[in-house]
Amino acid sequence: MRGEWYMYRLFRPELSDMNLSSSSTSNSTPYIVIAASGNGSNFQAIADAISNEKLHARIACLIVDKPCYAIERAHMLGIESILLERPWHKHFEETIARIGPAVIVLAGFMRIIPSHVVERFFPRIINIHPALLPAFPGKNALEQSFEYGVKIAGITIHFVDSGVDTGPIILQKAIEVKDNWNLETFENHIHELEHRYYWQVIDTLLTRPFSIENRKFKWGDEE
Ligand code: GRF
Repeated sequence: MRGEWYMYRLFRPELSDMNLSSSSTSNSTPYIVIAASGNGSNFQAIADAISNEKLHARIACLIVDKPCYAIERAHMLGIESILLERPWHKHFEETIARIGPAVIVLAGFMRIIPSHVVERFFPRIINIHPALLPAFPGKNALEQSFEYGVKIAGITIHFVDSGVDTGPIILQKAIEVKDNWNLETFENHIHELEHRYYWQVIDTLLTRPFSIENRKFKWGDEE
């Protein structure tokens, strides 16, 4: 990971206004792309936050690597979905490069993105993980943390680097696990956290500068 100090700003409305298109929406509204592989509840929560004018962004498209319920959600929302052709990572990279979104949001996208793609777009690709990293990285983190008997559970929103769930952390939120929770209750609480915070992080990333120094993320306008 980068050992130096970098300051970033993912969206500059003053620059996007120079490329005026015939869109009816303001050009100062940034595009994001969402990638999913399954249910798509996080995709839905982000789309809902946009509809409710809480998140100021436009979803250029949903990218999926296989047929899944997220595609149906996109259809119902009137959002284009793109099913990646093989090799998926080439198509993924080409699609992202063509659209040029301010942020690429992984929301249950069950693929490891090759390092050259991650590096090309760093730090625009972000991910949400249903555990408090670095605990329980990889697949089935919800089940693993519940079975392990954690007393504090939570979510991690992080930049994607070339490792598995190893990128710099943007935000973590924790909850106390109650003794009477079963796996389903546990999952519901974690998803509720995800749906509450993912769009907020996206919104802030689109409006505030930030720095990453020795993997430590910090909003740029904070002391
Ligand atoms: C979420 O739990 C997310 O943290 C993980 O994959 C799950 C996706 O759920 N990366 P959904 O498809 O958004 O409902």
